[in-house]
Amino acid sequence: MFSAVVFLVSIVGLVNSRPSIELNRFAVENESEEVRLAAIKRLLEVFGMEDPPASPGRGHKQPPQYMLDLYNTVADVDGVTKDPTLLEGNTVRSFFDKLHSQQVEFMFNLSTVARNEKVLTAELHLFKLRPQASLTFSRHHFCQVSVYQLLDNTKLNVSQGKRLVSSRLIPIHSNGWEVFTVTQAVRTWMTDEHSNLGLLVTVRTLAGIQLDIRTVRFASGQNHHHSKQPMLVLFTDDGRRVTTPEGVLKGSDDSPASPKLPLPSLTLPGPGHRSARSLDYEEDPDRKPCQRLPLYVDFEEIGWSGWIVSPRGYNAYHCKGSCPFPLGQNMRPTNHATVQSIINALKLTKGIEMPCCVPDKLFSINLLYFDDDENVVLKQYDDMVAGSCGCH
Ligand SMILES: *[C@@H]1O[C@H](CO)[C@@H](O)[C@H](O)[C@H]1NC(C)=O
Ligand SMILES: *[C@@H]1O[C@H](CO)[C@@H](O)[C@H](O)[C@H]1NC(C)=O
Ligand SMILES: *[C@@H]1O[C@H](CO)[C@@H](O)[C@H](O)[C@H]1NC(C)=O
Repeated sequence: MFSAVVFLVSIVGLVNSRPSIELNRFAVENESEEVRLAAIKRLLEVFGMEDPPASPGRGHKQPPQYMLDLYNTVADVDGVTKDPTLLEGNTVRSFFDKLHSQQVEFMFNLSTVARNEKVLTAELHLFKLRPQASLTFSRHHFCQVSVYQLLDNTKLNVSQGKRLVSSRLIPIHSNGWEVFTVTQAVRTWMTDEHSNLGLLVTVRTLAGIQLDIRTVRFASGQNHHHSKQPMLVLFTDDGRRVTTPEGVLKGSDDSPASPKLPLPSLTLPGPGHRSARSLDYEEDPDRKPCQRLPLYVDFEEIGWSGWIVSPRGYNAYHCKGSCPFPLGQNMRPTNHATVQSIINALKLTKGIEMPCCVPDKLFSINLLYFDDDENVVLKQYDDMVAGSCGCH
């Protein structure tokens, strides 16, 4: 996928290197602007989006601490995945309650979840507050907290209008986050969004007597600090995950026909920049052996810093250099590349180039960002960072 981006960026370079005769100067500028927009659109597609989120979120909203912690657990400072087995799917979405009810009733708008996303796990995160001293029941140590999915009883012919989805004993005097699994409820909401009437939480004594919600209290979005807001967390997978063994490049990704220009900087150059071609073949005549070099993708320069929380950019690296005979093991050659380098050296057949210096190991990166509805999303993207280069 990245090669497509690179291809577009290369085109930007080529367009800009055209002789800009005064007469068609504006046409060329318009054209290159079009290519620039097309390139950015293509880059968005790499990140699984049609349009940049229209979220002004970054300025005035604080991402949930849970999502920041999760991001720091799965990703290093550059956004590169530390351990690919930590996350089950490739997407984690957080939602704040829309109801802000005084009752322990919650509503989450899941309209930003993509159709192709499979819900693996859904969790209701509630912040339990310490009971008010005057209301403390000395006799009780635990309470039974139950989460119900609210049902439309006019439609479904259900007497009670709610279905139990999760229930647990919780120490009455505890305080802090409590997590309830509500996967089944969210799956039914995903198949029919109109069935989403929210969740209801009840608290009972062990004897089954319903407790006043002032006894065992959960922070609400309305009366408590935003860092304690009730939250729904969805772990999903959008099916984009590559299923080949971790980090190993698929054969189709480095078809020998593809042009192996070195990657120009991804800062989408304006008019006057050097073309990719001149960088490669004219300014660097005695090419160094195949090696991995930095290529920083700066989200601020691309204009995405408004909706991306982390990272600010990442080092994608690029592979550059020649693959002459004899190819040492440090060049990580395939047998095919070794034979090709020999044929090239012996000039046995005309027109056979040296093998190409390409990524042979790729890593995924993580993005923490605000979506259209100002929800914070953590998403993992495969094959974004060249881990090593080799002659292929
Ligand atoms: C370039 O684009 C602008 C705005 O889209 C337009 O007004 C102008 O006429 C275009 N120029 C040429 C030469 O096509
Ligand atoms: C959910 O959010 C979307 C987009 O913000 C909005 O169009 C839709 O009306 C919302 N649905 C409900 C039930 O509030
Ligand atoms: C609900 O189901 C009962 C039997 O299970 C039936 O007698 C009753 O008519 C149903 N009510 C509605 C509103 O469908």
